[in-house]
Amino acid sequence: MIDFHTHILPGMDDGSRSVEQSLEMLNIEARQGITGVVLSSHFYADENNIDAFLQRRQAAFDRLAQQYSKDMPRLYLGAEVQYFEGIGRCDDLSRLCISGTDLLLLEMPMTPWSKRMVDDVIQLNKRSDIRIDIAHLDRYFDCQPKALWRRLVDVGFLIQINTSAFRHFRSRMIVMNMLKRGQVHFLGTDCHGVHSRSPEWTKVPDKVKELLGSNTFLQSAESTIL
Ligand SMILES: [Fe+2]
Repeated sequence: MIDFHTHILPGMDDGSRSVEQSLEMLNIEARQGITGVVLSSHFYADENNIDAFLQRRQAAFDRLAQQYSKDMPRLYLGAEVQYFEGIGRCDDLSRLCISGTDLLLLEMPMTPWSKRMVDDVIQLNKRSDIRIDIAHLDRYFDCQPKALWRRLVDVGFLIQINTSAFRHFRSRMIVMNMLKRGQVHFLGTDCHGVHSRSPEWTKVPDKVKELLGSNTFLQSAESTIL
């Protein structure tokens, strides 16, 4: 099972603050049977350009790699790219995909989505160089009109759900129905720390883990530590 959404990389964002904390998070993942994690640090276009972000990410990764041990999950470099105006015209967006793949984890805003924004993202998904994976769709069940988030599902986006969705009756029911229709592709903990927002898989039913655990989306990925 792979955790497709984590903030484990140290010092990159509001997730792990130190290498020690990152190692502890990786050990928590390993104890729950997780064999790979995508390091999806936040990318905010108004705070970073892509070059600066990738340099910072490599430096954080190098610090973690020095203390990594082989019994920890494999690590895949990625990013959680927050939607920004004009994203569709950003030519080198593919550099933020999960390393070795064309998968881009896109975070939609919590503020109300306009129809134009949704159209923009749908347009973006038609690009040949990237496939969009909508991050934690469950987060929008209550704060966006159903017609908007449902549209992203219906046009066939890849969808990532946070494991916390299984903690609440309503979101769990919605997710289980989506799963039956093949509309959920990735699970992630969206973990940010050890004591709060830790990597948490206990509420995910075994049958869901079995269903999504065998997905092949990362076959072409470059696992950064072998
Ligand atoms: Fe996140």
